[in-house]
Amino acid sequence: MSVFFVAVMSANGKISRSHTALVDWTSKADLKWFKDITTKTGVVVMGRKTFETLRFPLPDRLNVVMTHEPHLYHNKCSNVLFTDILPDQLIKMLEKKGYNNIAVVGGQSIFTLFLKEKLVDEMYLTYEPIIFDGIDPFLDLNEEVRMKTMNVKFLDSGAWVVHYKIIHWENENGKGI
Ligand SMILES: NC(=O)c1ccc[n+]([C@@H]2O[C@H](COP(=O)([O-])OP(=O)(O)OC[C@H]3O[C@@H](n4cnc5c(N)ncnc54)[C@H](OP(=O)(O)O)[C@@H]3O)[C@@H](O)[C@H]2O)c1
Repeated sequence: MSVFFVAVMSANGKISRSHTALVDWTSKADLKWFKDITTKTGVVVMGRKTFETLRFPLPDRLNVVMTHEPHLYHNKCSNVLFTDILPDQLIKMLEKKGYNNIAVVGGQSIFTLFLKEKLVDEMYLTYEPIIFDGIDPFLDLNEEVRMKTMNVKFLDSGAWVVHYKIIHWENENGKGI
């Protein structure tokens, strides 16, 4: 089982213009890359705010939407699951359902949650050639995350996708965890 992040960032490392903005600045090549990797994985985990920026659930994938208030949402689509289950339990539940990998696709609060709980193994970060003011992928981490670059893939659009594997966490005192 591998849990990985898939995120697209501006050249200055922002994932969105605001907490409610749609990611409408990414290239077609990255959208295709995102669709391919997440469809192959079969399941995407996202926060409720990210889900609300989408016009419809991502097809051919189970859309797991994290919210503290799942009772407020009525599942109209069979491929959408609103849940307040804890991330480690969520991973176990998806494993039991037969998923071998899990794509965590944001936004900031969900990336931060999984990273702080050390539940992520890999990241695929696309860097688009654009700069704007916006929000960071992670908030108040308090720890350093050391990664190994596994691959860099250039997309037709001029964006590139970096595949990282997490190797080590370090706390504020520089101690390995
Ligand atoms: N560039 C990229 O790759 C990328 C990817 C995804 C999203 N984004 C952008 O990121 C922005 C959204 O990020 P965001 O941080 O504001 O919101 P978010 O992470 O998408 O969603 C936040 C919501 O997730 C739920 N949540 C958070 N922690 C939870 C927990 N422990 N248990 C259960 N539910 C939990 C809460 O929902 P409730 O309030 O309902 O309780 C919370 O309000 C949008 O602009 C989106 O377009 C960018």
